[in-house]
Amino acid sequence: MSEFGLDNYLNLESKQQPNWADAEVLANTKARLAKVPPLVFAGEVDTLRQRLAEAASGKAFLLQGGDCAETFVDATADQIRNRIKTVLQMAVVLMYGSSLPVIKMGRMAGQFAKPRSSDFETRGDVTLPAYRGDAVNAYEFDAVSRTNDASRLMQAYHTSASTLNLIRAFTTGGFADLREVHAWNKGFTDNPINKEYESLAQDIDRAMRFMEACGVDSAELRSTEFFVSHEGLLMDYERPLTRIDSRTHQPYATSGHFIWIGERTRQLDGAHVDFLSKVRNPLGVKLGPTTSVDDALALIDKLDPNREPGRLTFITRMGAGKIRDELPKLIEGVRASGAQPLWITDPMHGNGITTENGYKSRRFDDVMDEVMGFFEVHRALGTHPGGLHVELTGDDVTECLGGSEHIDEKALAKRYESVCDPRLNHMQSLELSFLVAEQLVQTSRGQA
Ligand code: PEP
Ligand code: CO
Repeated sequence: MSEFGLDNYLNLESKQQPNWADAEVLANTKARLAKVPPLVFAGEVDTLRQRLAEAASGKAFLLQGGDCAETFVDATADQIRNRIKTVLQMAVVLMYGSSLPVIKMGRMAGQFAKPRSSDFETRGDVTLPAYRGDAVNAYEFDAVSRTNDASRLMQAYHTSASTLNLIRAFTTGGFADLREVHAWNKGFTDNPINKEYESLAQDIDRAMRFMEACGVDSAELRSTEFFVSHEGLLMDYERPLTRIDSRTHQPYATSGHFIWIGERTRQLDGAHVDFLSKVRNPLGVKLGPTTSVDDALALIDKLDPNREPGRLTFITRMGAGKIRDELPKLIEGVRASGAQPLWITDPMHGNGITTENGYKSRRFDDVMDEVMGFFEVHRALGTHPGGLHVELTGDDVTECLGGSEHIDEKALAKRYESVCDPRLNHMQSLELSFLVAEQLVQTSRGQA
C-alpha cells in the first residue's frame, strides 16, 4: 500500500482523464514531475487554511478569480500583471464594502486542464479529440494539435512556475501598494460611464486619506498575500507533484495552494475525491443545482472528517434562476450537521448561454443576479456569504454581455479570446466588485 493511501485512487474510476497518445512519454513525464521542485510550500498552504478558517467563521472574505483556462501563449508579463491588478483592484473595493480582510486568490499558475462534456468535437465532417486545456493538447482544430501529449504536463509545470514567480514579485515588490491600487481604481471611476460608482469611490478615497493622515504606513499596505488555485483534474499531474512535507510529515499537493474538485468529478466513490482527501491543502468542491443535502454531508465526511476550520470550501454554481431555491436547504442541512465549511459563490458556471451569432457567453446581469441571490440567502439564514469565485481577465476582451460598456452580441466578435468559457473583462470585473460593495455597505448600515 502506498504511503498515506495516496495511490488508492488507482483502484477507483477516474473521470475526465485524457487518453494519452504515448505511454512512454507519459511515464517519463511523471517521473520527471516527481523530482521537480514544489511550486508552493507546505507553510504557505497551512497559512491559507488559517485565512480560510477566518472566512468560514465570518471574519474574512475570499476573492478567487482568473481565467477559465490559462494558456501557455497568454502567460506573458502583461497579461499576468493585468489579471493580478484586476484581482487587487476588486479586493480593495470589497475590503471597503465588507470591512473585512479579503483573501486574494488567482485561478492562476495551474489552471491548464479542463473537464469536457464530450471526448470529441465535430466541425463539419471532421471529428477530433476535444480540447482539454493546454496541459493536454492544443486548441487549434487539427489532428496533431488535438493529440493528447503528456509532455505538455511538463510545460504546464514550467509555465505555472514562471507565472507564480511573477505573482510573487508583483505582490511583494511594491507593485501591490494599496495606495497604488486605489489610484488605478480612480481610473475606472473617472470614466463617465461608471459615474454611478463615484460616491462609493469617494468614500474609499476619504478612508485612504484618513489612514494617511493617521500616519499608517505598515508593511501590510505595501505588499499582500496572494494565493494560487486550480481545479485538481489530471491525476498524472497532481499525483507526482504531491510530496510528503519534511516538517509536518504530511502529504501536500505542491501544484497550488488551493485545489478544487469540479462539478463533474466530485463523485464520492471516484478517484478525485479519494486522492484529494489525503492531501493537507484546503479544498474546494463545486456544487451545482442538483446537489442534495446528503451529497454535501457525505462530501464533508470524506474530505473533512475532522471538521478542520478552513479545510473545506463549497463553491456553489446554481444559476441565477435557481440559487434562491436551491441554496437555502444546503446551507441549513450542513449547518444542522454542525459542520462549518466556507460558502462562496461561483456566479459564472450556472449562467452560460449560446448567443444567436454562435458565441458561448454570459450576461453580466445574470452573473450579478446570482451574486445578489447568494447574499440574500445568507442574509436570510444569518450565515456568512464568504466569497466570490469568478472567471475574469485583466484585458478588454468582449466575451460576456452587458456591463457599463453595454457589450452586445455583435460586439462579441471584436475581441473574443477565451479558449473555454467567457470571462468578465477588466471593467466588468471592477463593476461587479463595486455593485457587491454597495450591497455590503448597505447591509452593514442596516445592522448598525
Ligand atoms: C470551472 O470552474 O472552470 C468549471 C469547469 O466549473 P464546474 O466544475 O463548476 O463546471
Ligand atoms: Co469555466
